[in-house]
Amino acid sequence: MMIFDELINTQVKEMAPSGIRKFFDIASSKKGVISLGVGEPDFITPYHIREAAMHAINTGKTFYTANMGLIELRQEICNYYLRKFNLSYNPNNECMVTVGGSEAIDIVLRAILNEGDEVILPTPSYVAYAPIVQLSKGKVVKVTLTEENGFKLKREQLQKAISAKTKAIIINFPSNPTGGIMEYDDYLALADLIKENNILVISDEIYAELTYDKKHVSIANIEQLKENTIIINGFSKAYSMTGYRVGYILAEKPLIKMFNKIHQYTIMCASTPSQFAAIEAAKNGDKDIEEMYTSFKQRRNYIVKELNRIGLKTHLPEGAFYVFPSIKSTNMTSNEFCEALLEKENLALVPGSAFGTDGEGYVRISYAYSLEEIKQAIERLERFLQSL
Ligand SMILES: Cc1ncc(COP(=O)(O)O)c(C=O)c1O
Repeated sequence: MMIFDELINTQVKEMAPSGIRKFFDIASSKKGVISLGVGEPDFITPYHIREAAMHAINTGKTFYTANMGLIELRQEICNYYLRKFNLSYNPNNECMVTVGGSEAIDIVLRAILNEGDEVILPTPSYVAYAPIVQLSKGKVVKVTLTEENGFKLKREQLQKAISAKTKAIIINFPSNPTGGIMEYDDYLALADLIKENNILVISDEIYAELTYDKKHVSIANIEQLKENTIIINGFSKAYSMTGYRVGYILAEKPLIKMFNKIHQYTIMCASTPSQFAAIEAAKNGDKDIEEMYTSFKQRRNYIVKELNRIGLKTHLPEGAFYVFPSIKSTNMTSNEFCEALLEKENLALVPGSAFGTDGEGYVRISYAYSLEEIKQAIERLERFLQSL
């Protein structure tokens, strides 16, 4: 019998399975469960976007594209970033299409990290960053984002985390899981530190279209930081296109060239019909974004009000489609809380600890679900809290 354990890469062996998926495997094996766990819009992809994918298939546009993606798509992505966020990139060499933001995170980290390089990671954070840094032999340096600071990254925190080995920082605003955002002045306060220490900023802006009261600002909007910044974004969340698997990177030409080296050998190109759908989304999808946004805002306001009413202290998230209520008043760990809630009330949420130890004391609730489901979930949660 082969001993596979000896044959597996050490980093992979040590990688913990995603705290979200682990939990949902349990939830999916039970009947009658309401899950507010997955970060995926519940809208069917707008028809004109689906039609563009169907048309590509029907007309035989089903072959490999350029490694970097269809030039028409790169052009539309660059038009979109200029139109929406006032940032200008060259579609020929400063933009590449990836298989979701997920591939972008992987190839960016692999392309920049040498063994022992440090990556500053404000946490609680999206589940993929730390494992991919580790797989790329980098070292994660955590910085704790706190509710008191609105889950923003502060200058003093960044200053403390920087060392001679710092290669990059990963930021994600609007944030999964906290819903926190950063504004222009928040970024400006970090600018000299990033510049002086020659740090790359990986800015995951996948929720850029979902800021509720203030317009999204990219750290690349700070003029002197544009060249330091690697923007990651994609079509999954903004257009409800998670299964199409289209994302992109915007960055300086020498960096894109390196990212594309890994991409061309591992991926070749993103799915061709999906790229055609993405062209349609970027070109004619602004109205769809607005409709979904209005619905998300209504759900956010409802769920925050209700959570506070039933006794879970919840700050108002300024972006994305997650709320991050504190469960500290229950004296349970977030894992215990979610396990008991699932067991007693058939309601699945994600423990804050799935987003790093700094997420302990919180649970993440996705409101990318219908108001009806959210209402039922609140009823179950209220009964659960009363039973404690
Ligand atoms: C912060 C963040 N980045 C990236 C992704 C990956 O999205 P995709 O690969 O579908 O573009 C997600 C998905 O949940 C996310 O929450």
